[in-house]
Amino acid sequence: MSLSVNLLAKIAIELQNGISQENRFQRLISTLREVLDCDACALLRYEQQQFRPLAIDGLSPDVLGRRFALEAHPRLEAIARAGDVVRFPADSTLPDPYDGLIPDQEVLKVHACVGLPLFASQTLIGALTMDGMNPTQFDTFSDEELRLIAVLAAGALNNALLIEQLENHDVLPAPHQGSKAPDSEMIGLSPGMMQLKKEIEIVAPSDLNVLISGETGTGKELVARAIHRASTRAEKPLVYLNCAALPESVAESELFGHVKGAFTGAISNRSGKFEMAHEGTLFLDEIGELSLPLQAKLLRVLQYGDIQRVGDDRSLRVDVRVLAATNRDLKQEVLDGNFRADLFHRLSVFPVSVPALRERGDDIALLAGFFCEQSRQRLGLTQVVLSQGALQRLLHYGWPGNIRELEHAIYRAIVLARATGSGSEVVLEPGHFALNDPSHSPTSLAPVVSIQEPAPLGLSLRDATDDFQRRAVRQALTHSHGNWAAAARELDVNVANLHRLAKRLGIK
Ligand SMILES: Nc1ncnc2c1ncn2[C@@H]1O[C@H](COP(=O)(O)OP(=O)(O)OP(=O)(O)O)[C@@H](O)[C@H]1O
Ligand SMILES: [Mg+2]
Repeated sequence: MSLSVNLLAKIAIELQNGISQENRFQRLISTLREVLDCDACALLRYEQQQFRPLAIDGLSPDVLGRRFALEAHPRLEAIARAGDVVRFPADSTLPDPYDGLIPDQEVLKVHACVGLPLFASQTLIGALTMDGMNPTQFDTFSDEELRLIAVLAAGALNNALLIEQLENHDVLPAPHQGSKAPDSEMIGLSPGMMQLKKEIEIVAPSDLNVLISGETGTGKELVARAIHRASTRAEKPLVYLNCAALPESVAESELFGHVKGAFTGAISNRSGKFEMAHEGTLFLDEIGELSLPLQAKLLRVLQYGDIQRVGDDRSLRVDVRVLAATNRDLKQEVLDGNFRADLFHRLSVFPVSVPALRERGDDIALLAGFFCEQSRQRLGLTQVVLSQGALQRLLHYGWPGNIRELEHAIYRAIVLARATGSGSEVVLEPGHFALNDPSHSPTSLAPVVSIQEPAPLGLSLRDATDDFQRRAVRQALTHSHGNWAAAARELDVNVANLHRLAKRLGIK
């Protein structure tokens, strides 16, 4: 069978349909898969040395979250370099990025494979890939026909990119788009994530302070970086300060600097984080842990735009945009008297809240694919496949530790699967995931400490209490992977108090 004019017209019309961009690409891919009778078909965007799937058909859902670095995928590299239709021989030894990712195929290896690079003028903007389990599947199509499909698809993709550029033009200064590092991409297409990305796009170029809230591991730091990167301050530093790890005694000097002799140990002048962030952005992580006296000082800077180094009477003008993050309910902290209302209002001119992973639906699959591919590269494996069963397991888990927990879970599962399996192709099964509580429902997330073991008999009440506390603290630290602020939250104590308690109990 070869392509009829009718079929080509059908593809062209699909691409003209006045539906949303993603939808259009999805229909293009589905039509191609049907017309060319492929087992799998994908439209990929090429950018910064990597291919990013825009639409897929016939592939497992996690592929949409995978990012294929050119250097790690010789087959895609060949397509990128070719400049024309690439037909891989059925017995090609180059690993196919989709090996094992076509559901319901027992064979891991894809056989027939055609790649079409997509160009806008001379620039590579993407690729179409078609795969089939039958080695001669695409032999009936001529290069001319395939080229025609590539031209149609390239035109549609280029239009989409131009429209995107036009839409962003008012808010996103062009020079900053280029600095987007591929490794800090925010994966996710769920409504909650689309909303978040929209908000970032809106607030980034304004100079407003932003309060980023969200549970632990949801990606607050990633959001802060994205805001900075898309801001007019992108070329200036983004300075990081974790307020939870700030001992009261040095906090002021950390923030504002000090002059020589200001206190014992101040042997020279030192600039603080505010000065370092001059003309750039200061990211205050775990802002909820800041003590009340320091909150007052921070407020002053935000109000007047000047700082005083410790031990210095003169004030320095600083131009700093503050992004703050917290996993506490700051409004509640204000009501409880732990956080200054005036500072809260200054910081939360534009509040952004990062959704929990369990509210992101299919993003779990995308993120799982993203981390599979990332870990695959890190561990030097040929392929990492997420079985249907494993994906179901991930989709039904509550993810109290959110993206970070998912990232660790995937990595651990791969290491485990590699150790117990053979070869460099790893298939993740449900058993590879030791998820703490598979029945974890969103409502059972209360920080309940249940220490199963009874305290040893014969202890004084004091010792028994200490013993209980020690175990509770250790357990919380295990849960939080050693993150003290997160452990403090789980135990519902102030982080500074937790440090003191841990010291007294001999845990530190
Ligand atoms: N949308 C995303 N796409 C890809 N990776 C993500 C995404 N969100 C978070 N991550 C990754 O998950 C990990 C945790 O993210 P991050 O440190 O930003 O979370 P956080 O909200 O600051 O957590 P905490 O409250 O514990 O400080 C990081 O490795 C980050 O790169
Ligand atoms: Mg963080």
